Amino acid sequence: METLPFLLTLAAATSVYLLWFYLLARKLTGPKVWPVVGSLPLLFVNRRRFHDWIAANLRATGGAGTYQTCTIPLPFLARKQGFYTVTCHPKNMEHILRTKFDNYPKGPEWQAAFHDLLGQGIFNSDGETWLIQRKTAALEFTTRTLRQAMARWVNQTIKNRLWNILDKAVTAKHSVDLQELLLRLTFDNICGLTFGKDPETLSPEMPENPFAIAFDTATEATLQRFLYPGILWRVQKLLGIGAERRLKKSLEVVEKYMDDAIAARKENPSDDLLSRFMKKRDVEGNHFPISVLQRIALNFVLAGRDTSSVALSWFFWLVMNHPEVEAKIVKEISAILTETRGNDRQKWLDEPLVFDEADKLVYLKAALAETLRLYPSVPQDFKYVVENDVLPDGTRVPAGSTITYSIYSVGRMKSIWGEDCMEFKPERWLSPEEDRFEPPKDGYKFVAFNAGPRTCLGKDLAYLQMKSVASAVLLRYRLSLVPGHRVEQKMSLTLFMKNGLHVFLHPRTLA
Ligand code: HEM
Repeated sequence: METLPFLLTLAAATSVYLLWFYLLARKLTGPKVWPVVGSLPLLFVNRRRFHDWIAANLRATGGAGTYQTCTIPLPFLARKQGFYTVTCHPKNMEHILRTKFDNYPKGPEWQAAFHDLLGQGIFNSDGETWLIQRKTAALEFTTRTLRQAMARWVNQTIKNRLWNILDKAVTAKHSVDLQELLLRLTFDNICGLTFGKDPETLSPEMPENPFAIAFDTATEATLQRFLYPGILWRVQKLLGIGAERRLKKSLEVVEKYMDDAIAARKENPSDDLLSRFMKKRDVEGNHFPISVLQRIALNFVLAGRDTSSVALSWFFWLVMNHPEVEAKIVKEISAILTETRGNDRQKWLDEPLVFDEADKLVYLKAALAETLRLYPSVPQDFKYVVENDVLPDGTRVPAGSTITYSIYSVGRMKSIWGEDCMEFKPERWLSPEEDRFEPPKDGYKFVAFNAGPRTCLGKDLAYLQMKSVASAVLLRYRLSLVPGHRVEQKMSLTLFMKNGLHVFLHPRTLA
């Protein structure tokens, strides 16, 4: 091609593209977008404070609580894969999570990315496949025996291992990474609850457990699939290289471990979720095959493993910074134990709280809910748009695009939670007499446990577990942050503390 016609063609194409881009950008309501790279430069600049950046963008909408942006401003992709509607508007969330539930599934990209790890399990399916599992699981999650099983697993971990480790740290005047201990504790609990076997990753030696390592590696490799365009991980998988190789290898370990667990439960059924699912039959009246049972169990482990430990880490950090809240929590636990165990302080400390004692902790529950309002364990979630739709606030969402609902931002909007939304105030969750836990009337103001038909199944178990651990720690110890330790958010699908939570423990003197 000769130079001049080539340059003229290039100039014409560029002008057409820029005109097209100008028309697209005029309709976008979020942060600045550039030709070709869209909002990616700002995403990159804000990658270490992603959730706060989204919250600031949503606040900048002046109370509207919704904006639209584009990461791939190229024809054909700009209104589909590249198009994001970001919202924290309660009415919009109600619309996507409940009213028009069928129009907003997890979607093909999400399902493809999680498929190797989770198969078509409850956490990773839509439509009929999801509904059948949801109905079966929902029946089990409401049973008292499952709550009792959770209480048993958590209390035996506290009594036999957590207190030991913390007592040693007090005597040796060593700091501990509380987040690390809590992650191990909840991993052990969810394994116990799901397939009746406690891998004891929380123990004084902090052992490296092959199943836990393989499960972590598989989860991390799966999450990496979201970082880059889908074609990249598919090519890596085909060639068996990089993160995809690690995923394959770790899945072999996970599957072998699950096979052993299933064999053990077949011989010796118990009150765990796996034993319960082994008794069930599918729509054709057959028992679930082993491969399906494996995935069912893994879905529960993934859903219930890190969320409560991460919430507890933020809770302990907030309580450390709010001594008046800490005093009220200890006072409430002491009052209940006086009622149930009398005045002998030793009796208060000998055993963790039993289910009925934990159930009465109203202020502690309020403090945990308040933690999740400000630091939700799942800070944002995504839904795929099946058909063109209009959200209740008038926002038009095109088919094939993605809606991100920012759970982190909902709690940080003055228009939703009032002028004091950034303050840690458990009292806002209590009735005027402060004797009852009272969640907001509009259920879509608080979506830390999701809402609508896909509400978290483990919510009550999680509160029970968090109350048990929080009271077991706070009744025995005062915590102080290791000087110089920086508490920061890790940018991930779960709101971990990037550097952990390093604390010193001091014995508590009970009044
Ligand atoms: C503080 C603790 C927890 C929080 C904040 C939490 C939050 C959530 C959220 C946001 C979802 C929706 C995820 C999505 O659809 O993308 C969810 C779903 C789910 N959670 Fe939890 N969760 C917690 C603890 C647990 C525990 C301990 C269990 C199990 C014992 C559990 C079991 C589940 C299950 C099975 C689902 C899938 C429900 C469905 O898709 O129908 N969760 N949870």
